[in-house]
Amino acid sequence: MKKLNHVAIIMDGNGRWAQMRNKPRAFGHIKGARVAKKIITHASDIGLKYLTLYAFSSENWLRPAIEVSFLMKLLDRYLKKETENLFKKNIKFSVIGELEKLPMHIQSSIDYAKNRTRDCTGLEVCFAISYGSRQEITNAVKKIATQVSNGEVQVSEIDEVMLNQNLMTAARPDPDLVIRTSGEYRLSNFLMWQCAYSEFFFSDTLWPDFDTVEFDHACNSYRSRHRRFGKLESAIHAESINY
Ligand code: FPP
Repeated sequence: MKKLNHVAIIMDGNGRWAQMRNKPRAFGHIKGARVAKKIITHASDIGLKYLTLYAFSSENWLRPAIEVSFLMKLLDRYLKKETENLFKKNIKFSVIGELEKLPMHIQSSIDYAKNRTRDCTGLEVCFAISYGSRQEITNAVKKIATQVSNGEVQVSEIDEVMLNQNLMTAARPDPDLVIRTSGEYRLSNFLMWQCAYSEFFFSDTLWPDFDTVEFDHACNSYRSRHRRFGKLESAIHAESINY
């Protein structure tokens, strides 16, 4: 059976789910956070190694201040309430994104969760917060350009491995499977470099209605696919293109 190590999820549809029930969008985010918690536990229970959740994009800062502030509160509440549970379940917490843009108290909650779960060896759950793939790639290019201008790196030495090492995801393998809910078929600035050879699973379900049954269905769909990484079937052994 095809190995599945890393699932990344674009959790979309909270707002529509709430609006369909004549509730404020915040109601959808609360339910969405509960679903995220269930999926994290489930991913850990089934022995998945990496799960990345798109919790707040760089573009989400442009939403009304009241919604941004609510999402920040929800995140803070989640971290404060769940860090100990993550630790007990041997789940390592990590984050990618422009964290310096977050309020200081959230940065502290993130640091605490990262430190507390630092030595956990089970699932690694990564929250993409204030994250944008274009920003990430631009920053990686700037870092390499600085090294070139300092004479530490030659232009001829720049390759995919180097670029990859300068991304926020350097320590993690690329996603095998990307799930997006809510019937949208876009990447929305999420892990664009890292998803070059990922498989995609699009679901019409709005994120607050997503559940472990559908998660398993997506994983099984992945396992039934043939990944060729641009090569011919005959050339593929158990190799992976992850760095
Ligand atoms: C997309 O729904 C979702 C988000 C912008 C944020 C995702 C956040 C959560 C699932 C809750 C926070 C999670 C944790 C674990 C604290 P949308 O608002 O774009 O929905 P819409 O497309 O229907 O408007």
